[in-house]
Amino acid sequence: MARHLITSAIPYINGIKHLGNLVGSQLPADLFARYQRGRGHEVLFLCATDEHGTPAELAAAKAGKPVAEYCAEMHEVQSRIAEGFRLSFDHFGRSSSPQNHRLTQHFAKVLADRGLIREVSETQMYSPTDGRYLPDRYIEGTCPNCGFESARGDQCDNCTKQLDPVDLINPHSTISGATDLEMRETKHLYLRQSAMKDELEAWIDSKTDWPVLTTSIAKKWLNDGDGLQDRGITRDLDWGVPVQRGDEPWPGMEGKVFYVWFDAPIEYIACAQEWVEAGKGDDWERWWRTDKGAGDVTYTQFMGKDNVPFHTLGFPATILGSGEPWKLVDYIKSFNYLNYDGGQFSTSRGRGVFMDQALEILPADYWRWWLLSHAPESSDAEFTWENFQSSVNKDLADVLGNFVSRITKFCRSKFGEEVPAGGSFGERETALIADLEARIRAYEGHMEAMEVRKAAAALRGIWVAGNEYLQAAAPWATFKEDPEQAAAQVRLGLNLIRLYAVLSAPFLPDASAKMLEGMQTDATDWPGDAESALSVLEPGHAFTVPEVLFSKITDDQREEWQGRFAGVRE
Ligand code: MF3
Ligand code: ZN
Repeated sequence: MARHLITSAIPYINGIKHLGNLVGSQLPADLFARYQRGRGHEVLFLCATDEHGTPAELAAAKAGKPVAEYCAEMHEVQSRIAEGFRLSFDHFGRSSSPQNHRLTQHFAKVLADRGLIREVSETQMYSPTDGRYLPDRYIEGTCPNCGFESARGDQCDNCTKQLDPVDLINPHSTISGATDLEMRETKHLYLRQSAMKDELEAWIDSKTDWPVLTTSIAKKWLNDGDGLQDRGITRDLDWGVPVQRGDEPWPGMEGKVFYVWFDAPIEYIACAQEWVEAGKGDDWERWWRTDKGAGDVTYTQFMGKDNVPFHTLGFPATILGSGEPWKLVDYIKSFNYLNYDGGQFSTSRGRGVFMDQALEILPADYWRWWLLSHAPESSDAEFTWENFQSSVNKDLADVLGNFVSRITKFCRSKFGEEVPAGGSFGERETALIADLEARIRAYEGHMEAMEVRKAAAALRGIWVAGNEYLQAAAPWATFKEDPEQAAAQVRLGLNLIRLYAVLSAPFLPDASAKMLEGMQTDATDWPGDAESALSVLEPGHAFTVPEVLFSKITDDQREEWQGRFAGVRE
């Protein structure tokens, strides 16, 4: 039994995520976690909310709530929606947890002890009107690079250039609109990433099996002019992890907090501590400390491409720099973007379908299937309602759903609600079993490699093979001349349903559960060989006809939804 530590990039707390966010991290991570559990491996699957930084403070202000209260509420909301999508986290933590505070302060101390943190005096924008510094998104102005008028202090949304608030032309406070801003000297901590360049480069070079998308982004940041510079890891904000050196105060850093990108990935570890604290596990160190048994853990991270620099350089710099035996990531699976109907999904502009809205329209499996089978792996992908309708109707309703309903209803009418006895397999059955054997092994290969689209296509192929068999064998016709042979065909068909339930569970957990319930079995072992997997349900085994697995999306529904989601969300 292997052990898999799996994390999804932790979503920002400021609002409900859209389907593009979902397919870029949480959903494929869930697919992989379910698959590895299905194979009988031990899995620890963690995710959390990313609660610090200016986006959280600004969203709380907009909601008119104290930021701690806002975060607690939004954590609940995100947690419920995650359950709705059947995201099977072992724990859904919070980066604002006491565990993460302690661990973040611990890392800062060991990094400082090892000479990897330097104090820098720098100029920051201060607003006398607001009585505070204005880091990152607290300030907007004209981009010095492209002239865009609402560039944020940390980045221009128009040309994507990384900015420093002092670079902006005509800057103003996003809190009060004040323009009487001053430049003030203030002290900040910098992580000396540049001193770790060689070590990081050697580590990345050793990862020869990483996807091109991951390594190319990492290399670009490592070697570009903009690349591996020392990074400011503190901010003048109230909300966040207070800057401390372990348990000790940090002279000169009073009132400051760590930068959100410093503490957020540390939450991957703190989350395992929260998991233990919550009574769900009893040992987090065997997942995270290589001196405490984590040496044989395989650690896989899932994220959108914009997160890659922080996971290939930033967080590893923290881990490697600490000199402590923390588990480093083994494999980083990253995703391109999913677009929405001719444009981008956008949280700030409320464009696209958001996770809560999706579940109001259709159950999780419909979305899981479309999103995963169209995952933006080798390039960006696009959601259109036409494509969604046709995938659901063809793959789920016509192929999988129809197979299950035909075979169970036919059996009930001719043999009753139990697996029929008699007859034996002929050439057609032998050929199907050999074909499935090859297809199942290919499916496994894609799942192991986290090739999500290919895995979906392979699974669909497995469903199609069963459908084509049923069409060709036509037990309803066979039955008239040779009821024994029809019985063997139907027996195979019912066993295929159980096999489909097991193989499809990572993609379609609800449909899989319904199929198993219908087949009245809890035999969910991963198929060793197709032949024995297709004889698990023995003659005489009782079943019931499951309720309809998937309904088709009608043209009227599609048009209604298309209209409803054409605008922006308030
Ligand atoms: N909140 C970030 C985002 O949504 C991801 C943070 S991942 C972590 O883009 F590594 F920082 F935890
Ligand atoms: Zn710009």
